[in-house]
Amino acid sequence: LGVHKEVDAHLLAHLSQKARNKWDFMEDSLHNSSDSRSIPANERMYEQPEPVTHNSVVKEKILQRKSLQLHHQQQDWQESPEGQKMLEFRRSLPAFKEKDAFLRVISQSQVVVVSGETGCGKTTQLPQYILESEIEAARGAVCNIICTQPRRISAMSVSERVAAERGEKLGESVGYKVRLEGMKGRDTRLLFCTTGVLLRRLLVDRNLKGVTHVIVDEIHERGMNEDFLLIVLKELLHHRPDLRLILMSATLNAELFSSYFNGAPTMHIPGFTFPVRAHFLEDILERTGYRLTPYNQIDDYGQEKTWKMQKQAQAFRKRKSHIASAVEDALEVAEFKGYSLRTQDSLSCWYPDSIGFNLIEHVLCHIVKNERSGAVLVFMTGWDDITSLKDQLQAHPLLGDQSRVLLLACHGSMASSEQRLIFENPEGGVRKIVLATNMAETSITINDVVFVVDIGKAKETSYDALNNTPCLLPSWISKAAARQRRGRAGRVQPGECYHLYPRCVYDAFADYQLPELLRTPLQSLCLQIKTLQLGSISEFLSRALQPPEPLSVQNAIEYLKIIGALDENENLTVLGHKLAMLPVEPKLGKMLILGAIFKCLDPIMTIVAGLSVRDPFVMPSDKKDLAESAKAQFAARDYSDHLALIRAYDGWRDAEAQQAGYEYCWRNFLSSQTLRAIDSLRKQFFYLLKDICLVNNNSETYNTWSHEEHLLRAVICAGLFPGISSVVNKDKSIALKTMEDGQVLLYSSSVNGCVPRIPFPWLVFNEKVKVNSVFLRDSTGISDSVLLLFGGNVSRGGLDGHLKMLGGYLEFFMKPELAKTYLSLKMGLEELIQKK
Ligand code: CDP
Ligand code: MG
Repeated sequence: LGVHKEVDAHLLAHLSQKARNKWDFMEDSLHNSSDSRSIPANERMYEQPEPVTHNSVVKEKILQRKSLQLHHQQQDWQESPEGQKMLEFRRSLPAFKEKDAFLRVISQSQVVVVSGETGCGKTTQLPQYILESEIEAARGAVCNIICTQPRRISAMSVSERVAAERGEKLGESVGYKVRLEGMKGRDTRLLFCTTGVLLRRLLVDRNLKGVTHVIVDEIHERGMNEDFLLIVLKELLHHRPDLRLILMSATLNAELFSSYFNGAPTMHIPGFTFPVRAHFLEDILERTGYRLTPYNQIDDYGQEKTWKMQKQAQAFRKRKSHIASAVEDALEVAEFKGYSLRTQDSLSCWYPDSIGFNLIEHVLCHIVKNERSGAVLVFMTGWDDITSLKDQLQAHPLLGDQSRVLLLACHGSMASSEQRLIFENPEGGVRKIVLATNMAETSITINDVVFVVDIGKAKETSYDALNNTPCLLPSWISKAAARQRRGRAGRVQPGECYHLYPRCVYDAFADYQLPELLRTPLQSLCLQIKTLQLGSISEFLSRALQPPEPLSVQNAIEYLKIIGALDENENLTVLGHKLAMLPVEPKLGKMLILGAIFKCLDPIMTIVAGLSVRDPFVMPSDKKDLAESAKAQFAARDYSDHLALIRAYDGWRDAEAQQAGYEYCWRNFLSSQTLRAIDSLRKQFFYLLKDICLVNNNSETYNTWSHEEHLLRAVICAGLFPGISSVVNKDKSIALKTMEDGQVLLYSSSVNGCVPRIPFPWLVFNEKVKVNSVFLRDSTGISDSVLLLFGGNVSRGGLDGHLKMLGGYLEFFMKPELAKTYLSLKMGLEELIQKK
């Protein structure tokens, strides 16, 4: 410990150099050809103009030549027959009419807010207008436009589209970059990237050297990264008066952003959507022969009861036919408004996971049978629901008939061949039905949609700051989102939208969705604030568009202190610095680092990759038991989901080597797509760790102890602490308890979820989710000694601080014996340190 500080300083100096090299490795062509590597990041903040030298004159000439070349290329394409055809299409988009006005306003103002209906051409056209006009002004080789997207899939698909519109291959003047993946070259001038990618660039290049335009897209979604980026950019604009910032939004809360940027000019692109008729539940029910008393007539309890009796009588009359049960589902939805819709805060608690599938089925049948042609877009809450509904519909005599209906699911991680089908028109009068999540609201546009079915819910992460627990609950969407969903039906002709909830529910929706910054844990964000040297975390976040609760901020800071990323004074520790360089959650980053230090990197990389992609074990609802027992085989009495993941992955890697990977996945209920993603992520992790000097080329040297299962449990514990629950085996059940939540439960998909007893006193877990009870998703059993030695963070306030915290835990869980053991362990350690 005596040399600790010195080592810190040394590592830090080394690290900052390495960090820049890493950026170069990842982001090479983002930088202009001028070399910024030799200037330390903090000095680059306020740079002096370069003096005119022979070199700079030569450089200038080269750039001029490149700009000229770009201009010729652009002209050639635009004059070619294909180019003409493309131009004709582009000119038909509403954005085209505003092109000149747009270019004028960005030349006059540093910040511009643009809003416009989805599909009017904001994302594909506006960045392109800038690029084209820069090229025409012979500045092609010096302009550097970055357009951020909240989602990977949109960054990828939009860049592909824009490259095609320019008659180029992706990676020439137009490219994309998403986490750990990208397609761009030295001469890429317009880059579509995820917001996270731009934020990581800011870590090592605070001034965005060489960047001429930043376009932040879909700001109305109010994602955490976007809100964070806006705070940083707002500050940066003072230091970079030449930088242009364009904010793009689908819905019309442009004023909010404009006033945040001191009254920046706003621009609206009028859309050309056709009118869409909205049907609410009452109306839909009426069409099927049900009458529902409107909500505003049910004022008191008595009337509500009458309404219920009416409903029962009607249901009885219909004798529970198929449709009746569908409508029952719907009525159930309508019914709960009587309890809670007046108090907005409890909206999300009342409603079961998904609206009755039968009702959706019923409405789809109605459309297929009775309505004119046109594709149908169904908004669901999540992937699970989409798959289950798709299964149900496929079994239906009409909707499952492939000669009449083409059923498609739309999801961010689906294969690109399947993606393409979504945009294509099916032939021969087949009706296309696309089941999608809220990503089809704004990020992607399916042109031929005429009917929209909206269940009014979206799965949304929220964050319970009081209990410090993230929750994943389907909650009601906002009015803005409902309008947006409705609008998707009017792209090519007048459309119809079936909102499967009563009008009164719609009236109770919030106008806009709560920004993510106000509903998620802020740990990674706080780490980034410190790394970017943006001052006090609380002060910085108080400058947000809508600042988060002080309690949430405090929780996040406290967490970072517990895991050792921040010291008592809120300064980044060496660990914190390294964690900020790894594009994974802090706890997973810590696990990786410890995996390298304790030489068990290979399996730890698998775990971290698995936890940051998604679970490769698939649990189809109809074969749940089989799938669970397949997973249990990998656990082999380990009582660990994380060790099961390692086994499953290792087995797959061996099977792949013998070309039997697919069969292996099929037999073991594993997703080969996910395993492949894990595989590639593992490789990336290794490079990243090499970059921050934790490993060298030889991966073998970091695997000396990879087969030591106890050590793996210890490293898992060190990473996931304080995600810990005590285990008490009872006669017929197992009682689990965490400090924040009290009693908790395990998901049945966990290998520990269906065992009669767990022979470990503790479980560590990565994720807990509050649904109605708190559930642990995954877990690993650990012993007392592992908890004592690896739980917590010895560097925090020295051993005393560590003991105090761990002591608090042990006391809470009523383990005084363990506390005593810890005390003697501590004294022994101190003695040892003194001797050394
Ligand atoms: O961003 P915004 O919603 O305003 O529209 P956009 O994404 O720029 O799309 C404008 C138009 O380009 C759409 O209406 C589609 O017709 C077309 N487009 C396309 O054909 N293929 C894509 N991958 C993206 C857009
Ligand atoms: Mg867009």
